[in-house]
Amino acid sequence: MKPSDRANVEPFHAMDIMSAANKLKAEGDDVIFMCVGQPAAPAPKPALEAASNLLKDGRVGYTNAMGLSSLRERIARHYQDYYDVKISPERVAVTTGSSAGFNLAFLSLFDVGDRVAIASPAYPAYRNILKALGLEVVEIEVDETTRWQITGEQIGWADAADPKGLAGVLIASPGNPTGTSILRDEMQEIIDMCKKKHIHLISDEIYHGLSYNSEREHSALNFTQNVVVINSFSKYYCMTGWRVGWMILPEYLERPVERIAQSLYISAPTLSQVAAQAAFDGSDELEQVKSGYAKNRAYFLQELPKLGITEILPILQCLKPHK
Ligand SMILES: Cc1ncc(COP(=O)(O)O)c(C=O)c1O
Repeated sequence: MKPSDRANVEPFHAMDIMSAANKLKAEGDDVIFMCVGQPAAPAPKPALEAASNLLKDGRVGYTNAMGLSSLRERIARHYQDYYDVKISPERVAVTTGSSAGFNLAFLSLFDVGDRVAIASPAYPAYRNILKALGLEVVEIEVDETTRWQITGEQIGWADAADPKGLAGVLIASPGNPTGTSILRDEMQEIIDMCKKKHIHLISDEIYHGLSYNSEREHSALNFTQNVVVINSFSKYYCMTGWRVGWMILPEYLERPVERIAQSLYISAPTLSQVAAQAAFDGSDELEQVKSGYAKNRAYFLQELPKLGITEILPILQCLKPHK
């Protein structure tokens, strides 16, 4: 007996390291965790209170596969308030972390064997999920000349490199591990190229809220409605372990995603959905957490060059303008 070929994906090494570190901790070692991206702060107080009130009530049932209506409405309102984009709540799918959002996006957009492009380096789970689903991963190398982000031009080349073309592109802004954001002009070029070549675009916006210049992040939805946006309560909202995220879908994907989600997950965890809705009322606390990250960031920017590490965007920008 043997497992399927598709199960033969790379381990998610950061998770393996966390597992080893957890073991050491359980054995009594003093461990500092630097492996997975987790806020040290707890979920904001309104989220904790909402969850604890629901627990007092005792009954935690399923929700609709697409999520609690009140949470979908609250997320839609967030798009109006934060990005000035009007989204109908029907286009919001609440997911078991953004990780489930990737499964739902890939399954509803692509067929086995389709070519899907991601940046290299990128968040490693993208590649593993795509492979496990029988999709061909096209890795587009990024470096300082592209601000460590995929460009529209590179998407054109990757599409032309194979007679099958590209079925999809997954971008992440701010990106992991590089941390850089896609500038407005570059986002427009990516969207124009995807439109011209009929390539589905997926935009991972999980690090929105955690940018450190004066300008607020733009969503891909500020440029087009023909995109699947994936986001999460894990990072800015400090709710990694609650496993709750969301997708904004183009209308034609609402029902396909709902059908697949019904059978894959039934629904995202109800307790987490109730807490997530209340997390929107925790902005003061969350902004405080963010100002702590800003201090750490400033310290690193000052100290890393002294150790000879200068491959950092704000520093490189001073040294040489990007092409
Ligand atoms: C870029 C990116 N996308 C998605 C995820 C997955 O997050 P979650 O499933 O907790 O929403 C992570 C986690 O580190 C990430 O860095």
